[in-house]
Amino acid sequence: MREVDEFTIKFVRGIQVLDSRGDPTVEVTVVTEAGGMGRAIAPAGASRGRLEAVDLRDGGKDYRGRGVLRAVEAVNKYIAPAIIGMNSFMYRNVDRKIIELDGTENKARLGGNACTATSLAVINAAADTAGLPLFQFIGGSRARTLPVPLMNVINGGAHAGNKLSIQEFMIAPVGADTFHDAIKIAVEVYKTLKELLKATYGASAINVGDEGGFAPPMTSTRDALQALYKAVSVAGYEPGSDVYFALDAAASHFYDPSEKKYLIDERKLKPLELVEYYIDIINEYPVKLIEDPFSEDHPEYFKMLRSKVRGKVLIIGDDLTVTRASRISKFISEEIIDGAIIKVNQVGTFSEAEDSIRVLLRNDRKAIVSHRSGDSEDVTIAHIAVGFETGLIKTGAPARSERTSKYNELLRIEDYLGGDAIYSGKNAFLR
Ligand code: PGA
Ligand code: ZN
Repeated sequence: MREVDEFTIKFVRGIQVLDSRGDPTVEVTVVTEAGGMGRAIAPAGASRGRLEAVDLRDGGKDYRGRGVLRAVEAVNKYIAPAIIGMNSFMYRNVDRKIIELDGTENKARLGGNACTATSLAVINAAADTAGLPLFQFIGGSRARTLPVPLMNVINGGAHAGNKLSIQEFMIAPVGADTFHDAIKIAVEVYKTLKELLKATYGASAINVGDEGGFAPPMTSTRDALQALYKAVSVAGYEPGSDVYFALDAAASHFYDPSEKKYLIDERKLKPLELVEYYIDIINEYPVKLIEDPFSEDHPEYFKMLRSKVRGKVLIIGDDLTVTRASRISKFISEEIIDGAIIKVNQVGTFSEAEDSIRVLLRNDRKAIVSHRSGDSEDVTIAHIAVGFETGLIKTGAPARSERTSKYNELLRIEDYLGGDAIYSGKNAFLR
């Protein structure tokens, strides 16, 4: 083990780089006394929850207002002098310092982007100083479970220009013994889906959206689920056994508060009708997980749906829970959710995301570590998923380097663990 002094943060530098959408974002590099180096890039969401940490953007003309030079300045001028000299091994103290320095509920002062990139760079630097892969710095030598990837292969909602209300149609390759076999199944299904969509809708249907999924000109949820079902079958796998389906409805984004109705499949449904709608779909297709089935202002309907599908389908919060441990605890005790999406930049520091993961796992709920629709080559989330052995990760289709970078890192981790690696498989969905 290294001397404590060697973990001392010696250098912190933020710069402006680009995310996968071509938007500016914050990258931070941290170096410790021992020369350990950590680097992280903040991702950015497009379909955000109202209570998320907010990114600092410059406004004005440059980069059409999307620049992050103010956030970069927050890193270099305010955060850096405050955390240089602190012990990166005790990353929770560093995060607390950042939280205090910001002093707001939603990181509005320093920027969620500045805080996220710095916090993640610090743990990466600490792991490097310890000479450990990040997942082992987080989880010790016990950490050896590879997560089931929830892969978004058909895009709708805020991520696509089609008429699908549901934002994400995901496949979960559970019927594999190893992570690399799971990737093989997913890629075969993805390529088959591509062929089928091209044959049905023409070549423009196979252009990919922000998360690498296809955005075919479909109009109904059932069209998308039917396409998935067919793709899995034609690829030679069994839907519901080898491959589960999962949905991120992101329903806040198709709820019309003036009419108090959800706009889906070119119909307007009352919340209770939407409950029935989901139940029908669950009976027709092997959908095993639904994220944000209702607006973030309708936890009572999450609860109602959950009570009717319990044991069969996991009901997960994202815009509802925004990676805040206090909200997650509340919704667990009120029996509203089976789990939550974990996005470090929704809350702004690794420690706060860690608190959320721990609350979930302690209560036998699911923690699904997730990318954002605007992401980068940063692979920290792959390590977070293995480090805490969450069993589930959500990081897009098996296409586009900002998505495959996470899958490739998980393949590396599996290889590094050798015979010790376990693939979470169907267990990830049990409750
Ligand atoms: P976002 O969407 O990254 O665009 O916010 C992802 C999600 O809703 O899960
Ligand atoms: Zn979501």
